[in-house]
Amino acid sequence: SFFQTSETNFSGKKIVITAGPTREKIDPVRYITNHSSGKMGYAIAEEAVRTGAEVVLISGPVSLQAPKGVRLINVESAEEMYHAVMKEYTNAHVVIKTAAVADYRPKIIHEHKVKKQPGEQALELERTKDILYELGKEKKDQILIGFAAETEHVAEYAQIKLMKKNADMIVANNVKSDGAGFGTDTNIVTLIKRNGVSIELPLMSKKEVAVKILEEAANLLRDELQ
Ligand code: CTP
Ligand code: CA
Repeated sequence: SFFQTSETNFSGKKIVITAGPTREKIDPVRYITNHSSGKMGYAIAEEAVRTGAEVVLISGPVSLQAPKGVRLINVESAEEMYHAVMKEYTNAHVVIKTAAVADYRPKIIHEHKVKKQPGEQALELERTKDILYELGKEKKDQILIGFAAETEHVAEYAQIKLMKKNADMIVANNVKSDGAGFGTDTNIVTLIKRNGVSIELPLMSKKEVAVKILEEAANLLRDELQ
């Protein structure tokens, strides 16, 4: 059928995928996170195994089972994800960053549970590392694919992320439209490539989107190696 992976062959190639949310501790019982379910990243990992690739899945906390054949690395915070990704990066051929990494973390992680007090309570936050940006800076001949979660000006914002982070392709995702985004089994995405080509995909299962992304990743890698 149209959506078969059989033509995408990554044997002998290493694909690193990040998935899920990160969790940023406030104290021993509380944290900041987001709605990422990990479904998109896990679907890509599962399809990537079928292409014959060596697949490393670096995952934040999700309630999914790792697909058979992947090497799973569990992480919690953005900082842990950063270190795990960097360790796998050098000999990777393709990196696909589906993870919804927290942009901010609490400035202080309290050693003990914070007790409630009368009145208001502020929480001071600081920036985490932008992992994709760091990967873009150190890119040699890896193919770097990012996601962009947007609720407005999707194509425009995604294009800016593509350039700023030195990615080869951005998968732009309107997380507010029906059938797309967090927790769903389907997605509506546009693949935006560096060469100016955009591919608008219709509503598809996350599995079908995964197949498309891997197909494009294979094209990009082939172009890179030529
Ligand atoms: N990303 C990352 N590290 C971060 C934040 C984002 O690696 N600290 C990656 C995501 O995995 C994704 C891409 O950058 O592949 C875009 O993430 P997104 O949240 O859409 O964009 P941001 O650059 O964080 O900008 P904003 O949230 O302000 O839209
Ligand atoms: Ca963000």
